[in-house]
Order: sequence, then structure tokens, then C-alpha cells
Amino acid sequence: MKLNKDFLWGGAVAANQCEGAYLEDGKGLSPMDILPTVQLGRKEAMYHPELALEKDYGYYPSHGAIDFYHRYKEDLELMEQLGIKAFRTSISWARIFPDGEGEPNEAGLQFYDSLFDECKKRHMEPVVTICHFDTPLALTKKYGGWGNRALINLYLDYCRVLFKRYGKKVKYWITFNEINMITHIPFFGGGMVIKEDENVSQIVYQAAHHQLVASALAVKMAHECGEGLLAGCMLAAGSFYPYSCNPEDVWEAVEKNQDSYLFIDVQARGKYPSYAQRIWKEKRVILNMKDGDEEILRCNPVDYIAFSYYSSRLAGVSPDINGKVADGNAIYTLRNPHLDITPWGRQIDPMGLRITMNDLYDRYQKPLFIVENGLGAADKVEADGSINDDYRIEYTRNHIKAMKAAMEDGVICLGYLAWSCIDLVSAGTGEMDKRYGFIYVDRDNDGNGTLERMKKKSFYWYQRVIESNGEEMD
Ligand code: BG6
Repeated sequence: MKLNKDFLWGGAVAANQCEGAYLEDGKGLSPMDILPTVQLGRKEAMYHPELALEKDYGYYPSHGAIDFYHRYKEDLELMEQLGIKAFRTSISWARIFPDGEGEPNEAGLQFYDSLFDECKKRHMEPVVTICHFDTPLALTKKYGGWGNRALINLYLDYCRVLFKRYGKKVKYWITFNEINMITHIPFFGGGMVIKEDENVSQIVYQAAHHQLVASALAVKMAHECGEGLLAGCMLAAGSFYPYSCNPEDVWEAVEKNQDSYLFIDVQARGKYPSYAQRIWKEKRVILNMKDGDEEILRCNPVDYIAFSYYSSRLAGVSPDINGKVADGNAIYTLRNPHLDITPWGRQIDPMGLRITMNDLYDRYQKPLFIVENGLGAADKVEADGSINDDYRIEYTRNHIKAMKAAMEDGVICLGYLAWSCIDLVSAGTGEMDKRYGFIYVDRDNDGNGTLERMKKKSFYWYQRVIESNGEEMD
């Protein structure tokens, strides 16, 4: 099938993984700024942020990252050569509100002004995530993060500033990155530090409710600002398959899918699904919903469903499962024997993208938008400077084919944004070596390197894909 000529081919990054300049021009601290690499204890710090707040781990990859803050013009020039039509990034909330509240920081605002101007100049549509694992650390310290309802208004103050300032430059907005991640990594998703003796579920589902209300009100604000803005939600997607045809396994997969769909059901359909009651009961959650919340959710559904897809997932309870676990990057999944895995343990399943897209589209009947998909792998720079990442080409090709198959099935999809167009710091491990880009960045896990940018073999391949609007993929 032929894709529409305005299909949004592109690439995606996130502020905290690429910008660096972590305290420059008045920026405040973000959660990532206190997380080291996996070698230095990132997992401990992610899941026990109370330690990260106290401890000195020595090296923090987000502090310098790939220095996009100073090199964005050069980087966007490369992306223009790549041919991308859409560039997804996030705004660092702590660059705009260093303390999370008060007066906005003009220097931070100016940075994004010129970044979006540069995108326009290079004929790229910016796609902007308002909060990508990036609730200012000041709000963790003062309010305890999203568990506190006060965050709704602070987020809306931030949105008001963004829509007013950038409403003419940015059409596509995403309210929260991977909103379902809040139940898996509350510090990333909600800036929350939860004590061992607390009811984690009570806190995260209450925090999620605050985000859902905030997201709905942000959608309303985007619509009311008169610039024709489109606001989407964003899911860490990847359908769960049942481990076997044992009905117990099938039910387990249904439940796991519902754990994620719960969020998008609210954002797309405007109300909590009936199974939410079961989840809350099982987890001893008593949701504190204020008068008017239900109406806010009902009246302000999102315009499109953005999602990341890296892999399908597998669930079951059959007795022979013992130990068959794969690395789901924070979302627990069983090892699927039919799939290969990446060097970082993620299962590779292009067909799963077709399945996931069909699931999401059937469920919501709203346009989908693939805003992250890619392969994290170590790349080797050869003596002649070439980087022959055929594995990345193969991964991306197979996923684009699966996307096209889903579109032939009838799914409407606005675009495909590869994660990431340029190498950056991994969110899960803090490593540079886990590279996703079509553009190589000379920086290692310890922060050494010249930061020079180099085109990988996949750069030229993706360039052809975009040029031919997805027709030439060999
Ligand atoms: C998504 C996130 O979960 O996956 C990104 O939105 C992240 O921020 C990406 O970088 C890949 O995961 P990782 O852990 O390999 O960087």
C-alpha cells in the first residue's frame, strides 16, 4: 500500500537524555540528574530514589548527555539531511520552572523558541512531550511528586506557558510520556519517593489519577488556545500474549494488558473502565476522586494515541514457566521462545507491532502515532570511520513493514518516529553504549569522547526510506 504523502517520518529524543547542560541558564534538577549509569548503581537509584537523593554516585550521564543543548543546530542539520519530517523531543520542565513553580525562566523558554524555529526552518514538524520522566526534583522534595494533588495545577501552569509561547510553532503535543510507566517506576513517571512500609499501589494509582486529570485539563487548554493544537496520550505499548492456550494463561495476559490500557481507556474514552474497580480492589486502593474529576475526564479525550513499541510481552501462570523471564525494560515479561532478543535482552517482534496496532486501533478508533521504535545495540566504528549497523536496518525495516501491514488492515497511523534519530543516554541503564541512533555520537559510558557526530549505515538507509515514502526498504 502507498502511504499518504504527509505521513510523518521522523525521529524522537527526550530532553533529559540528550540536552545535557543540566544546570545551565537557570535550569533546576530533574530526576535523571541524580541517576548514575547502571554500572554505578542506576537500578538501585531508580527504585530507591531516597538513596539517590542522598548519595554521590560520582558520574551522572544526563549532566552532559550528548550536549544537544549547545549542538542542536548541527544536529538538526543532520536530521534535515536524513530527510525527517517530524522531530519529537520533550521540554525539560525544570528548564522552564527550575523550582517547579513560580515565575518561568526566560532563558529556558528562549532555548525552545530557537529549537522549534530551527525545526521549522528545516521543514520538520516538532512533536513535543510536555513531561518525559521529567517532573522537577524540587516538586519531589516539596510535594512528594504526583502523589500530591497540588501537582495538577503546577503542571497546568507549565502547560499554559508552553501553549501560549509555542502554540504557533508546535501543533502536536503529548501530555505525558509512557503514562503507564508510573506504576512500574514511580520515580521516573511521577517523581515519587515511596517508603518501604507504604502501600505503593495506593500512592501510584492516586498519582496516576492526578496525572489523568491534569492530562485531560491540558487537552482542554490545548483545544481552547485557538491554534488548532492536537493533544495526544502516550503508552508504553506492546501487547501481552498468553504463554499457552491454558485459560489461566490467557486470563493472565488479559489482566496484564488491562494494567496498561487502564490509562489510555481514561484518556481516549473519557472514563475509567469497569475493570479498574477490580484492579483497585485487588491492590487495596481507595481512589480519592474529587467532585468534577469525572466530568473533566469525560469531556476532554485526546486527539490521537501515541505509543512506543519495542517488543510484545508474554504472560502466564502455567507451572512450567519457572524462571523464563525476559528483560522487559521495567515491564515484567516472560521469555517468548519464538523470538530473538537484543544484546540488552529485549525480545524482537515486528509482528507484535502489527498486533499491537490492531489492538489499539480497534479499541480506541482514534489515529495512532508511533513515536518510539528502535533497537538499542552497541556499534563499532571501523578504521575507515564507517559504522555498519545492518542489525538496526533489519530491525527498523521489519517494524516499518509490520506498521504498513497494520495500515493495510485498516489502522490509521499519523507517523513513524524512530527512537532515536541520534545516539543518546539510555533511560533504563544510563549507558551511551546502548545506542539507538542513525547518527553516532562519540561519547562512552563514562563520559569520554569528542562528541563528534557520524552517520551510520542506517542513516543512508532511513534516508532512502523517507525519500521514497516507505517504498524502498532494501
Ligand atoms: C522508552 C522511553 O521507554 O524507551 C525512552 O520513553 C527510553 O525514554 C526508551 O530511552 C528506550 O529505553 P532505554 O532504557 O533503552 O533507553
